[in-house]
Amino acid sequence: MIDLHCHLLPGIDDGAPDFEETLRMARKGWEDGIRTVVATPHLFWGQRLNRYADVRKLASEAELFLKEHDVPMRILPGMEVPTQPKTLQLLKSGPLPTLGESVCLLLEPPFGGIPHDMPEYVERLTQAGYRLLLAHPERCRSVQERPDCLDAVFPPDLPIQLTSHSLVGEFGPSAQETAVRLLSSGRPIILASDSHASHRRIPGLRDAAEVAARVVGTAYAHQMVTDLPMALLEDRPVWPP
Ligand SMILES: [Fe+2]
Repeated sequence: MIDLHCHLLPGIDDGAPDFEETLRMARKGWEDGIRTVVATPHLFWGQRLNRYADVRKLASEAELFLKEHDVPMRILPGMEVPTQPKTLQLLKSGPLPTLGESVCLLLEPPFGGIPHDMPEYVERLTQAGYRLLLAHPERCRSVQERPDCLDAVFPPDLPIQLTSHSLVGEFGPSAQETAVRLLSSGRPIILASDSHASHRRIPGLRDAAEVAARVVGTAYAHQMVTDLPMALLEDRPVWPP
């Protein structure tokens, strides 16, 4: 399986603080069946702007460290890009970080709600050549209140990433119900862990894929953690259930 959203790189955001925790997280993911992780630290963290060059370097160091500790997991560089004005400012000065050097950009909406100017983000980022993957919309309060409102601000043919822990109920019934409902939204769906630690919200996809299988069937649920994330990494088309 492939996990497209994970905060396992050490000391760069609110994910793993050091390489030991990176290893513990990777071991959990490996036991679950994850073989490729796209490491996606937050683009902005505190007062810091994380640089893609540093993430690339850290991802290859982490991959080597894991290999030395018998976890031969592939670690690709990525980042989680927020829908904030400073992202559009940054766009003017150069390329934004994507998932594993593809054209796919992991776009994170605020938990409070999808911003009203989301269509402007979609337009400007798409015009700049990026393909958008919306991170965990099921965790947005406005989407939880009205799941159908998402289509008005984020084009219905674009893929969304549901967080595995939402589907298994770790974020409460509202996120779980919304995630289950979005599975049938007609959009391409990716499952990812958005894991931050080895002891809670751990890198794991298998349980969530089983939940999804009851809604979209076993074949598509399997594709959500294998073929679809691979298609995004290889800049190929993705498909709905
Ligand atoms: Fe994240």
